[in-house]
Amino acid sequence: MSDLVFKVTPGGKLSGDIRVPGDKSISHRSIILGSIADGLTTVEGFLEGEDSLATLEAFRAMGVQIDDVVAGKTTIQGVGLHGLTPPAGPLYLGNSGTSMRLLSGLLAAQAFPTVLTGDKSLSSRPMRRVTDPLTEMGANIVLQEGGVAPIHISAGKLHPIIYDLPVASAQIKSCLLLASLYTDPADGSSQITEPAPCRDHTERMLRGFGYEIGTQGARISITGGGSLSGCHIDVPADISSAAFFLVGASIAEGSDLLLRHVGINPTRTGVINILLAMGADISIENPREVGGEPVADIRVKYAPLKGIEIPLDQVPLAIDEFPALFIAAACAQGTTTLSGAEELRVKESDRIQVMADGLATLGVTHVVKDDGIIIEGGPLGGGEINSHGDHRIAMAFTMAGLKATKEISIHDCHNVATSFPGFTDLAGKTGISLEYAEK
Ligand code: S3P
Repeated sequence: MSDLVFKVTPGGKLSGDIRVPGDKSISHRSIILGSIADGLTTVEGFLEGEDSLATLEAFRAMGVQIDDVVAGKTTIQGVGLHGLTPPAGPLYLGNSGTSMRLLSGLLAAQAFPTVLTGDKSLSSRPMRRVTDPLTEMGANIVLQEGGVAPIHISAGKLHPIIYDLPVASAQIKSCLLLASLYTDPADGSSQITEPAPCRDHTERMLRGFGYEIGTQGARISITGGGSLSGCHIDVPADISSAAFFLVGASIAEGSDLLLRHVGINPTRTGVINILLAMGADISIENPREVGGEPVADIRVKYAPLKGIEIPLDQVPLAIDEFPALFIAAACAQGTTTLSGAEELRVKESDRIQVMADGLATLGVTHVVKDDGIIIEGGPLGGGEINSHGDHRIAMAFTMAGLKATKEISIHDCHNVATSFPGFTDLAGKTGISLEYAEK
């Protein structure tokens, strides 16, 4: 594939009134639950990014009628829990770990076999974390050597599971919740315990579809044998996409930016909490609830940041925002320390190492740790950065351009389209001098 290069001219500030695209996690779940619900589900604010569209295409391939997404709107003709039909071939899920892990749970319970495949990055990510507990539930699943995709799933009869998640992962949790929908209520309920709170969109959305699910502290219980009723879903703007602009406006003097209709589910707001602790000027305006998810407009203005020790309990709540937060740390006064974040090594790239390499190019002093990084704030230079096809790394270094003293060229940026279609336009509109070219 050709190399998509972002070239960022140093300097600038962010201003304006924008809405970033729809939440990726909620968009995936709207298609999954809408497809297995009874009746129609209408969705607005859907993320037209490659990841959520991969989920949409997978369900079309299993016989679900889903309208083309137009201006973020679509309608899903739910087929009920037992109405999916065998796909003609393997389901290709591109770069999307969420699609692969959530679908593994759902498909392990179907009466037909499936094969799940993905791109190079997805085919190197750990899948045993979902297939081990699914196998314990009675699923028939075969992985490739090393515990990676393609995943071969054949029909199995599932029983409930009592499971302590080894990591605070919403993908594992959601995978097991979806599988548990298909267990026999006579066998009891599944009970899943999380070691720390992580995003709870599946739980909220299941309730929105009228499916009863219990939560008692860290334990979630769910019994099979029920049904889901189609509903309307208003997908908020993705706080993970807003995060780049929160950091950009915080580091660039003179910035003043309003981000509209952003999801502020407390299991996702680690980035706001961490930036506030660093001294950011962020205010939450007009908080409201939309379809079971808290939403607000967020105003962010420039403020001098200081380094902090990132609280451990904020790590799962900001897990996708660390590439952006590392740039904030590089622009802060003093030292920022991140620990307890080994999960970053198995995201779309090894986000600790790939970010560290990019920070080194910009001349930022840092120490890489197994489970995090220590970053010394200071001036940012410029140079050639390799994003390793990781969308969030490409966007994080785009924001670094606001404070750089020399041009930054970021390579391998195609995957920005997985989560943030229109990023380059929105970055330009708000004040970043960004050009891009295919090489
Ligand atoms: C997601 C969960 C997180 C996150 C990913 C989306 C989800 O992954 O990093 O981008 O939608 O459930 P983990 O479950 O691996 O932490």
